[in-house]
This record gives sequence, C-alpha cells and structure tokens, in this order.
Amino acid sequence: MLEKLKEIEKDGLKALQSVQNETELVAWRVAHLGRNSPLMQIFGKLGALSMQERPAVGHAANFTKTVLEGVLLEKEKAIKAAALAKSLEEESLDVTLPGRGVHLGRLHPSTQQLRRVLDILAEMGFQVYTSREVETDEMNFQLLNFPPHHPARDMQDTFFVEAGERGDNPLLLRTQTSPGQIRAMRDASRAALNPDNPPPIRIALPGMCFRYEQITARSEIQFNQVEGLVVGENITFADLKGTLIDFARRMFGQNVRTRFRASYFPFTEPSAEMDVECFVCGGKGCQVCKNSGWLEILGCGMVHPVVLENGGYDPARYSGFAWGMGPERQLMLRYKIDDIRSFWANDLRFLEQF
Ligand code: DAH
Repeated sequence: MLEKLKEIEKDGLKALQSVQNETELVAWRVAHLGRNSPLMQIFGKLGALSMQERPAVGHAANFTKTVLEGVLLEKEKAIKAAALAKSLEEESLDVTLPGRGVHLGRLHPSTQQLRRVLDILAEMGFQVYTSREVETDEMNFQLLNFPPHHPARDMQDTFFVEAGERGDNPLLLRTQTSPGQIRAMRDASRAALNPDNPPPIRIALPGMCFRYEQITARSEIQFNQVEGLVVGENITFADLKGTLIDFARRMFGQNVRTRFRASYFPFTEPSAEMDVECFVCGGKGCQVCKNSGWLEILGCGMVHPVVLENGGYDPARYSGFAWGMGPERQLMLRYKIDDIRSFWANDLRFLEQF
C-alpha cells in the first residue's frame, strides 16, 4: 500500500503538468483528490488494516494528500496569474487614461435670467415677494378689474383646477403674476399699525404662470413672469418711465434706446407697452424685430384706482405703477431663440449652451 501511495503521488504530479486551464484543473482534482480517487479509496480501506500497518499507511496517505493539495493550490494560482496576464495583454488596458469626469449641473436658463432680473431690481431697491401659483379667480382676475365674463379675459386662457361649488370664484393656475399685487398690498395694509396709513411698496414678484394655449414655437402653457409694483404718495407716470428706462439700461446696456406705446390692461390706467431698440440689428430692421427696429419687452401702467382700493390703499392718497415682463422672452430676444418650446423640452443640447 505504501508503494501504491508513492505511485498515486507520482501519477498526480505528472498529470498536473499537462493541466492548462481551470476546467482541466477541476477534472484533475476530481480524478486525484475526489471521492472516488485511488487516494480516497485507500483512506476508505484503512479500517481494514491491522493495528501494525494502520499508522504507517495512514501517515503516508495523509502526506500524499497534503502534497497533492499543495500542488493543486499552486497550479490554481499560476493559472489565474496566466489568465490575468493574457487578458491584460490582449485587452491592453491603459491605466493612464483619465477617469470619467463628474458632470456638473447648472441652473436652468430661465432661472439664470430670472436671477439676473431680480439682481438688477434689488440694486434698484426692490424686494422680492413670492406669491402662489394656484390662485382664485377673484385674485387672478376680479380684484384686478376683470369682472366675470369681461372680454379682457380672452387674452389669458385659463387652466381651472377646481370649479365645483365655487361659483364665480373657481381655483385656477395663475395666468399672470399680477394677483401677487393684491396679496402684497393686502399683506402690507393689513399689517399696518394704522390701517389708514399703509406703508409704501416697492417689490418684484417673480414666478411661473400658466395659460391654456395651443403649444407652438411662440406660445407655451407655462412661462415665467417678473412683475414690479411701486405704491406710494405722489408716484407719477414719470416715475414709471424713469424706473423702467433705468432697468432697461442696466439689463440691455447703457446706450439702449426705449419707447413707450399706449396699450390696454384692465388693472392699469393709463397703460403702455415698452419697447427697446432691437439689439440684433441696432434698430435698422431685421427678422428678430420683424423689421420694426423695436422689441417689445413689457407691459406697464399706473395702478388702477380700483386695484389700489382692493389692496387696501386709498386711491385718493396713494398712486402707483406696475409692470410685467417675461424672462424667457428676454432670453429669446437676446439669443435669437426661435422656439419657446426649447425651454421645457429638457434637451441638454439646448440647456448646456447657457
Ligand atoms: N399681467 C400682464 C400679462 O400677463 C402683464 C402686465 C401688464 C403686468 C401691465 C402689469 C402691468 O403689472 O402693469 O399680460
């Protein structure tokens, strides 16, 4: 039996020399160390040996087993190392290649423009007043002098959120930031120690507005506005012009020319629209300004007495002006963006340009 063990060891070592890969190694292990291998059969027969033989054979069998297990382990390591070396060579991994960069996000162009506008207004002494996006009909229209069924409502197609039992006062998505005027005036007049003596107001009202429109290159169902509101004593149309011209210069450049055209809004009287000289063609006329030389950037006017009254300000004593403008529109003019849908299409090719 001792002879047999020597042979088993020799066979095993010899067979291992021709093992090339892991599959062959598994087969080798089954053949030489597996349950039915000659070596294991010897272990099975130990019990039948005499007391004199048993220790020597058992010892020798264990020794053979240790030897075979040792070479198996070494072969395994060698095969793995060879496989790694081979794949490194074939796949030629270049460990000096730079890693994948971390992709930094950025603010949406509308947010950037909104902040630019608010920065300028802050320099001019305006505070930001944020107001809600879901409004009542009363705030969005009635208190701004659009009674139910007033034809001026046709300019602002509306998403109604909840009509139900609410009669003439359904909930809706605000179509303009103007309802914030009423909320801001009421906040200020109701907080005043003396309700007859509410404080002056100079605020900017930014935020998203919604209109139920067919989506086209020129109109979207959502867009931002920035509204301005100034209320105080002896505020005149000259203050409106001075403030808005100053704003336009800070926004579009010190030399920009501006003009006002008469217009109509229910909540201002008189009302106007403000144009800046086309900064694409310098006023000569081009596609962007439709050959007029001018670009409309905002609507404005003196706050209507009814609106002042609705906000808790006595129109006999107070006057004010307001305006509304769109950051997306400003960006479109500035960068000649010809499709307003780009703003909400979530296309990185567009967004990453800003
Ligand atoms: N709310 C108007 C709109 O969405 C814009 C506007 C015009 C706001 C004149 C004003 C204003 O405050 O005085 O069309």
